Amino acid sequence: MASLSGTRRIWLTGATSGIGEALAKRLLADGHRVALTARREEALEALAAGHPNALVVPADLTDRAATRRAGAAIEEAFGGLDIALLNAGTCEYLDVREFDVELVERVFTTNFLGTLYAIDAALPLLRRAEGRTQPPLLAAVSSASAYLPLPRAEAYGASKAAISHFLESLRLDLAAEEIDVSVIHPGFVETPLTARNDFSMPMQISAERAAEYIVEGLARRRLDIHFPRRFTYLVKALGVLPPALRRRFGLRIAGRGRDGDDA
Ligand SMILES: NC(=O)c1ccc[n+]([C@@H]2O[C@H](COP(=O)([O-])OP(=O)(O)OC[C@H]3O[C@@H](n4cnc5c(N)ncnc54)[C@H](OP(=O)(O)O)[C@@H]3O)[C@@H](O)[C@H]2O)c1
Repeated sequence: MASLSGTRRIWLTGATSGIGEALAKRLLADGHRVALTARREEALEALAAGHPNALVVPADLTDRAATRRAGAAIEEAFGGLDIALLNAGTCEYLDVREFDVELVERVFTTNFLGTLYAIDAALPLLRRAEGRTQPPLLAAVSSASAYLPLPRAEAYGASKAAISHFLESLRLDLAAEEIDVSVIHPGFVETPLTARNDFSMPMQISAERAAEYIVEGLARRRLDIHFPRRFTYLVKALGVLPPALRRRFGLRIAGRGRDGDDA
């Protein structure tokens, strides 16, 4: 399993739980200097205890000014960043009978705008990665749901598709500055976020395994870090089917027949 070489200065968001917590433990144990961000300061402090290489930077990433202040705190402590690993996110599913615009706004604000604000704070620090052996790296956690529209995932899937699209565009514009961009598309991972799901989650993996996949993908500078591959290749393949076949598959997942009746 590949690891990141040397000692990297890393900003990790969403570090208090699930995939982010597993990533934080792994990156700190590997000796990297890791700035840990999430809203719950006590949980960040507990994670950082005993790790002089950890920097606790609490922030609500939906607050643009607070996110900029987090960036300034990291700049003061680290001078710059080698890797920004933007993992914080949330998930809520839509019940279309109660078309809840506020739910969609909440999910987009955390997942898309939160990631955007973090990119805004991280970019100047990535540009300052001097004396580096590898280009600086901007990485964000999207989701396999970005590959394939599924029932009730209007808000979550679209917010993640927006992240994937935004980062793929940004990759082209940052190439001139030699800043690498990776987009991470996990399948189902066992975390507090998925513990709320009331449907079966095929090929679910542990948060620790997800962290291993992510670290390996970052070390190899993969453009698209997706896992577990048996699941994500299947979802990618379904995502490029003609719309009529995607619709048929989606309705089966929703447990509904062709006309929307229960199958
Ligand atoms: N689990 C899966 O199956 C799966 C699959 C595909 C993609 N993903 C993505 O992977 C990422 C991590 O998910 P997870 O399953 O590990 O979820 P999780 O256990 O719920 O962790 C989410 C993390 O994000 C932080 N966070 C949420 N809102 C925030 C905000 N406004 N500002 C700062 N931090 C915030 C939370 O910390 P605080 O509450 O302390 O702020 C927490 O540390 C998410 O982007 C998720 O969409 C997960």
